[in-house]
Amino acid sequence: MPLKITVRSVLPAREVGDLMVVGVPASGAASKKKNSRSPLDGFDRALGGALGRLLKKEEFKGKKDQQLSLSTLGRVKADRLILVGLGDVAKLGPGDIRTFAAKAARAANADKAKRLVLGLPDGLEGRLREVVEGLEMGAYRFTKYMTGDRKPKAELTQVTICLTANVPADAKARVDLGQTVAAGVNLARDLSNEPPNVLFPEAFAAAAQVMAKEANLKVQVFDFREIQKRGMRLLQAVGQGSEHKPCMVHFSHVPAGTSAGRRRIVIVGKGITFDSGGLSIKPAAGMGEMKHDMSGAANVVGLMQIVARLKPNVEVHGIFAAAENMPDGNAYRPGDVWPSLDGKSVEIINTDAEGRLILADALAYAKALEPDLLIDNATLTGACVVALGNSCSGWYASNDATAEEFQASVKGSGEQMWRMPLLEDLKDQLKSDSADLKHTGDRWGGSISAALFLREFIGNVQNWVHCDIAGPAMGDRVRGWDPKGGTGHGVLTFLDLIERASRNAGAVTNVAAPAPAASAPSVAKAPGAKKKAAAAKAAPAKKTAAKKPAAGIKPPVGTRHVAQSKAEGPAKKNAPQPSTDGARTAASRRRR
Ligand code: BES
Ligand code: MN
Ligand code: ZN
Repeated sequence: MPLKITVRSVLPAREVGDLMVVGVPASGAASKKKNSRSPLDGFDRALGGALGRLLKKEEFKGKKDQQLSLSTLGRVKADRLILVGLGDVAKLGPGDIRTFAAKAARAANADKAKRLVLGLPDGLEGRLREVVEGLEMGAYRFTKYMTGDRKPKAELTQVTICLTANVPADAKARVDLGQTVAAGVNLARDLSNEPPNVLFPEAFAAAAQVMAKEANLKVQVFDFREIQKRGMRLLQAVGQGSEHKPCMVHFSHVPAGTSAGRRRIVIVGKGITFDSGGLSIKPAAGMGEMKHDMSGAANVVGLMQIVARLKPNVEVHGIFAAAENMPDGNAYRPGDVWPSLDGKSVEIINTDAEGRLILADALAYAKALEPDLLIDNATLTGACVVALGNSCSGWYASNDATAEEFQASVKGSGEQMWRMPLLEDLKDQLKSDSADLKHTGDRWGGSISAALFLREFIGNVQNWVHCDIAGPAMGDRVRGWDPKGGTGHGVLTFLDLIERASRNAGAVTNVAAPAPAASAPSVAKAPGAKKKAAAAKAAPAKKTAAKKPAAGIKPPVGTRHVAQSKAEGPAKKNAPQPSTDGARTAASRRRR
């Protein structure tokens, strides 16, 4: 259930709640503006001067992350008051604001407070989206399977955000947006946290369908038969050692109408619902964490829910392959050679390197959609966690322009992600004596060789990002706005990228017109030079070599409308059919 959030221009000391949390700017930084009110106004008087004395004694100066908690003994209309230092408000990034708000929400849950009053100083009235994201993500708990005493007695349900500034005109829209975004991240967390006996591949696909139906999003689900029929043999290999057979899911958001510069972004996720390691079985310690090995796929579901609600002017496809990696008599083995959807044969070295195998088939499927940008995210390697720790993911880009674009979104989201190099000389590690390539290299550079393996399956796709989320996808403790357990790390960055692409696309036209017949007079003219120029301008970064439009892709013919609500039956062909290509111009294609 989303929180009930209201925004008011009122002093927190005047409000009613169970807990009050007030953000306090660093003294000095706060008093830049003359006559500006402090969200602390009124408290000292109500508390008979006790607050002032305490602030002095504790040397509370509003430094970032400084905290002070006190009982109000009924002098204001909440039992407890917590002050949280914000430092210099102007310097707060999106992550800082989310972390602050998440702290407040967590404190409320810890206090069994149902109603939270949150005081914000001047300068934060324009950051309501991040505040609300932080509140919703901080309030998140996975308590579904708890009963009796373990079930939380009370839960935060209502928040009054008190501004010292006036309430901005777009406050409601900002709050709604923050709640929509957080709901997607929290959905990804829920899926990641589900135990593996409950969330096996078919159950995962069913959950994806439930989301798609609720969000009115188009979805296709491929069952085991379909996977075999299409030749996704690597996904089959990984999944066949389990009683629960693999699945594949493809969501699509195709905006109605035409728009110059509209891009097609495809996001792929690894969905190993449990990774025992297979015959190359993992040690017992920590194996249970491998229920989170579908976090990349969970991110795809959460992200697509947000996309379905926000309807950006970007064509977005979300794809995940789901399988359970188990050792039984039918399990794939080290030494096996398997064909892939792409055609390349792969020698299996270690059955615990299963993620890159299912991703190889998912990427080969995705590339047939001819994305302008292809992103995959996966809990892929322990090596990446060794390199960057538990709070930072590692990402790789196929070219610097794409890296620049992705980096801008990393900065925009505030998630910790670090670019890693695709070192070409490590490719030698993937040479096989019995097949086109083997799927693991040696221990050193393990995250890089995994990325190089994936790159073998993207075909002609020029703009590709691989994001290894193995560390931050599962938290060993509370961090920033993230809880212990599944975090949804990655969703915010991918969303930022989609939002930017939407802003950069041209205006949508022809939305209301009926679907055109080939020769109907209503068909819009193919875009001329002007439209192409607009598309080129919309490009997020300078792109390199011009690329000829792929065969079979026709220039735009005007209106298109793709029904978003229908769940489709299994397609007949091996490769996915690119959606009606009406709005993709030759220029947008060349931006690679
Ligand atoms: N799911 C694991 C990677 C992982 C490790 C995720 C730790 C989260 C935390 C992956 O399938 C795996 O087992 N990778 C192996 C690859 C190796 C056998 C080449 C690894 O990293 O050890
Ligand atoms: Mn594994
Ligand atoms: Zn795995």
